[in-house]
Amino acid sequence: MGILEKHGVLERNISLLAIFAFLVVTIGGLVQIVPLFYLENTIEDVEGMRPYTPLELAGRDIYIREGCYVCHSQMIRPMRDEVERYGHYSLAAESQYDHPFQWGSKRTGPDLARVGGRYSDNWHVDHLRNPQSVVPESVMPKYGFLEATLIEGEHIQDLMSTHQFVGVPYTDEMIEAGQTDFLSQADPDRDYDGLLERYGETTNVRNFDGAPGISELDALIAYLQMLGTLVDFSTFEPVASR
Ligand code: HEC
Repeated sequence: MGILEKHGVLERNISLLAIFAFLVVTIGGLVQIVPLFYLENTIEDVEGMRPYTPLELAGRDIYIREGCYVCHSQMIRPMRDEVERYGHYSLAAESQYDHPFQWGSKRTGPDLARVGGRYSDNWHVDHLRNPQSVVPESVMPKYGFLEATLIEGEHIQDLMSTHQFVGVPYTDEMIEAGQTDFLSQADPDRDYDGLLERYGETTNVRNFDGAPGISELDALIAYLQMLGTLVDFSTFEPVASR
């Protein structure tokens, strides 16, 4: 019996076909899944990743509270159209400090994984106040009310401790300085040396919304302007190609 005829037997017997199909899927599954049990970590460490600054963390909470994730994903898939539009595909490491992660698949608006630095702070202020003023056909709601709520980060240290508890490597020193760092990131008149020491020289320090006081809008823009900028992709090389 030639191989074609043998295969013909399989194709004509539904029970035999089911058994063989099951075997093939089982072997394929085991080959893919079992190695994962023996890996200590499936996220490769990537240079540049750091926990969010207290102000960015607060901005991230506002992003979640306002349901921005309902219309925006934060995951660039490794496909040509996405990479050409949004930039380097997202790395697992880039969401390693996200609790909960913001990947998503619903894109009423564009992916925001690399929106940091793409627009000026002023653009974000105008856009969040009234999206239609910069993109006339936009269906994004207005978020100007965020300017009205001034915040001082009085609970930020508790939030950081919670993140530390679930595995984000905030040091006790970072938590200790939480509120100070929160205030100094949005106010360059304060002493922000400690902030840069703890979170790196490339941390954005400025009055994000251009208005006096620190508002929820400052925190949200600080968060948006950091997104996707922590890893330097001009020097990044995936482990697999090293
Ligand atoms: C109802 C859906 C919806 C919600 C909710 C929403 N957006 Fe959008 N967003 C859009 C759409 C559509 C666009 C594209 C048109 C535009 O730029 O306004 C957009 C664009 C953007 C852009 C510009 C992205 C780019 O690359 O051009 C940013 C930044 C943004 N949104 C941030 C936010 C933030 C922050 C929130 C929450 C406070 C939010 N969006 C909530 C629909 C939404």
